[in-house]
Amino acid sequence: MKSPGILWALVMMAFLSSCRKDSPTDPLANIPFNPIPVVLQGPSGFPQMPIPADNPTTIEGIDLGKRLFYDSILSADFTMSCASCHLPEGNFTDNFAVSEGIDGIAGRRSSMSLLNIGFADQGLFWDGRSATLEDQALLPVEDTIEMHNTWLEVVDRLQNHDAYPELFRKAFGIERKEQITKELAAKAMAQFERSLISSGTSRYDRFFSEEIELNDEEFLGYVLFFDLDPDVPDAECGHCHNAPLFTTNQYFNNGIEAVADLESFPDKGRGVISGNNQDNGRFRVPTLRNIEFSAPYMHDGRFQTLEEVVDHYNSGGHFQINKDPLIRPLGLLDYQKEALIAFIKTLSDTTFLIDPKHQDPFE
Ligand code: HEC
Ligand code: HEC
Repeated sequence: MKSPGILWALVMMAFLSSCRKDSPTDPLANIPFNPIPVVLQGPSGFPQMPIPADNPTTIEGIDLGKRLFYDSILSADFTMSCASCHLPEGNFTDNFAVSEGIDGIAGRRSSMSLLNIGFADQGLFWDGRSATLEDQALLPVEDTIEMHNTWLEVVDRLQNHDAYPELFRKAFGIERKEQITKELAAKAMAQFERSLISSGTSRYDRFFSEEIELNDEEFLGYVLFFDLDPDVPDAECGHCHNAPLFTTNQYFNNGIEAVADLESFPDKGRGVISGNNQDNGRFRVPTLRNIEFSAPYMHDGRFQTLEEVVDHYNSGGHFQINKDPLIRPLGLLDYQKEALIAFIKTLSDTTFLIDPKHQDPFE
């Protein structure tokens, strides 16, 4: 100590900092809370996205949700984030047949694309067991095969983190870090997921808005897909993979499983949720937008390529009493199968895949 003045200053600093600790107002409360609303809208022709009244979308909410989505802080051993199984370059899937969690144990189903997920209004997951994105976002953290953690632990990590308390303040107006909850974390992630919307720049979207024409092969595929010409076979795809989302979000048995009876499906899918055995082997129709980038295909990733998928549909699939009648031998010739795939590829939206808004904020 060079002078008593410095000593006095140190005593004062210690006193002031102990005051701050005891003070009833947390410094968080001094950070402005002015979230900026965001209107989420798809390209021309898209329906209006349903937004829950208690979780309006804001810039601050999406930012927080994006950070949580990409942060391995959610998993027990800090090795896995949501994005480990939902990668932007895989159209928000992981490109594995079935996903593996932090302990290297394989789950039983294939990761699902999150593109346009905010428009999915008939339940989430392949079997529809989760009603909302807010409910869904709570599940992976405590799933023993996925992130194998507890929310108690995650909330503790978030409350004692350098950055998160301020981000929760800005998104939700909390006044103390103890007000960070798993429900707020899930709300933020749901806001980010709702922002994952088609850019409207796919060849299909530009054809739909009459900016471009499809080439002859793509156009033939379009006619096949939507059953548009009595002189060309109906491929029936558009009934279940309907525009503009390229899914009706309903549940069907599309004939991929050869089983003796309704009780023998290795994964009963929708039937487990509804309790109705007519729903056994039914799964939610996935979107075909950007499908080129999310191989392998189906709930168990059994098909490696779109060629295999189209061969399946062309064959009419395996009979079971709840197989949808639209799944029947189609009689498509090779050039027609190729045209169908060429059309499906017009749904590719690389602008969405590389949009900086959706990318890892830690990179
Ligand atoms: C270990 C890999 C893995 C991790 C980690 C993971 N997911 Fe998933 N996700 C999946 C799989 C597999 C499915 C399909 C599961 C099913 O249908 O049973 C899925 C489905 C979903 C769905 C439903 C999509 C739809 O179309 O219905 C959403 C939403 C989702 N995940 C969001 C998240 C969020 C948010 C996180 C982080 C909190 C996360 N996922 C972490 C593998 C993972
Ligand atoms: C009766 C409704 C129905 C019809 C018709 C139909 N699909 Fe499907 N499609 C589904 C269902 C349901 C699934 C998911 C099944 C599963 O995973 O078990 C699916 C899955 C797919 C997938 C895999 C998607 C993914 O994310 O893994 C592709 C690709 C596909 N269909 C393309 C087509 C094409 C091309 C046609 C027309 C030849 C077609 N579908 C006709 C209902 C249908």
